[in-house]
Amino acid sequence: MGYCRLSPSSEPKSKLRQRFKVDRPISPPEKNDKITITIHLTPFNRAALVLSIISIQIIVHLYLSTLYFSAGDGFLPLIPASSVSTSCKEGLVYVYDLPKSFNTDLLRGRDALDNRFMIEETYSNDGFGPQVSSDFASIIPSRFLSAWYATDQFAAEQIFHRRMLYHPCRTFDPTIATAFYVPFYVGLAVDRHLWNLAATPEQRDQDCSHLLRWLQDQPPFRRSNGWDHFLTISRITWNFRRHPGESWGSSFLVMPEMQNVTRFIIERSPWDNMDVAIPYPTSFHPHSAMQLQDWQNFVLEQDRRTLFGFAGAARPKIRGDFRSLINRSCEEAGSACRSVDCSDIKCLHGSADTLELFLDSDFCLQPKGDSPTRRSVFDCMIAGAVPVFFWRETTRGQHSWFFPKEGEEDEWSVFIDRKKVRRGIVNVRKVLEGIGEEKLRKMRERVVDMIPWLIYAAGARGLGEGMEDAFDIALKGIFARFKEQQKRWR
Ligand SMILES: *[C@@H]1O[C@H](CO)[C@@H](O)[C@H](O)[C@H]1NC(C)=O
Ligand SMILES: *[C@@H]1O[C@H](CO)[C@@H](O)[C@H](O)[C@H]1NC(C)=O
Repeated sequence: MGYCRLSPSSEPKSKLRQRFKVDRPISPPEKNDKITITIHLTPFNRAALVLSIISIQIIVHLYLSTLYFSAGDGFLPLIPASSVSTSCKEGLVYVYDLPKSFNTDLLRGRDALDNRFMIEETYSNDGFGPQVSSDFASIIPSRFLSAWYATDQFAAEQIFHRRMLYHPCRTFDPTIATAFYVPFYVGLAVDRHLWNLAATPEQRDQDCSHLLRWLQDQPPFRRSNGWDHFLTISRITWNFRRHPGESWGSSFLVMPEMQNVTRFIIERSPWDNMDVAIPYPTSFHPHSAMQLQDWQNFVLEQDRRTLFGFAGAARPKIRGDFRSLINRSCEEAGSACRSVDCSDIKCLHGSADTLELFLDSDFCLQPKGDSPTRRSVFDCMIAGAVPVFFWRETTRGQHSWFFPKEGEEDEWSVFIDRKKVRRGIVNVRKVLEGIGEEKLRKMRERVVDMIPWLIYAAGARGLGEGMEDAFDIALKGIFARFKEQQKRWR
């Protein structure tokens, strides 16, 4: 990607860094500890000293004033467009300055409906959630602790928004932009009413309708009919496709004004090409390319004592529940398999237990959840374990921008026909044991190579050193896609 990178000294202090707290307050000095330092200077030296201090101040002031100006909402310092001009060959992105009621206000809660469980803490640290430490310290070396957060799987809206604001190819001039980002936190907006059975269709669509009305007043949107516009959606696509007469979710993605707008979404509809699937946010957010490479080596060389692991919640009340069957396969495998029961909320934000399991397992079983895709696939792969799928839909037609070519799944995953497992013709343990050391090592290397594109870096400008993460791949893909789509409206 055509980065125009700034020198490290120009890195604005990120919110993350400012949040670090000192464990123990520094005790104030006692009164009689006062120390006086006297320096004797000649008048000439004194004048020279004063002059150099003044000139340093002037230089620093000029430097900073070219770099920052206020974002207006106190959210983040911004990079002026003038610093981007040269090497953003693939395109320039314009970020709409939406009324806060469409994004950050949704994190604070607007009315009684926003009384959701600890929402501010869940999405603190610009979406990553609180940093973990104590319960991870026994599982991973301390040099990796700073990269782990209690991240909610639905945090993509904030994660993408921050990266867009800081992007070196961001422009403030809509007339030269190639892509327009709409930072609407639609997942959070729709979530307000998602589980409320009494909510009317109008209530479920209220924020979405307001947003589209706002957008239709924007000249760039009217010019392209939305073809060069995109946004991020934190929840799976099925929560935004309510058709007349149905009661679940919002109808945002079937509204006419959305038909030309591209959406980054954690699970896409296979029948809608405007949905582009992005990796589920996991809890791993490395701060640098070096920390990530260190992690890749660590998980590759990790000594694994369990053949396969399963983290999930069986649904024993559902007859023929496949996850219960998987759980039984695990129990029958004895010491070759371990499971982590996620039926309470324990696994919600990526627990230490699941990380420990995946670091210790060669393979992880990935039956589909309530929908075809699962965050657990990503939790498993970033720990360097090989995923085992039972449904083609879990991978096919989903995260194709971030995974190797379709048809190459055998190089980094195992597919087992669930019907044969049900009928008892195939035994999961025997299949996995039959793969052999050499093939397993190759698959694990492939999985570990894939990690950078499956994660969201902690830094507001990504991993650095030219290393791309999932966000970089997504934005690069958008520029290519919009170039291609220009034929349709220009
Ligand atoms: C989508 O784009 C096509 C082609 O530019 C246009 O005819 C159509 O009206 C657009 N749809 C909406 C809802 O703007
Ligand atoms: C698997 O089954 C056992 C015994 O029925 C149960 O204790 C355990 O919680 C189950 N594990 C999962 C992951 O559902």
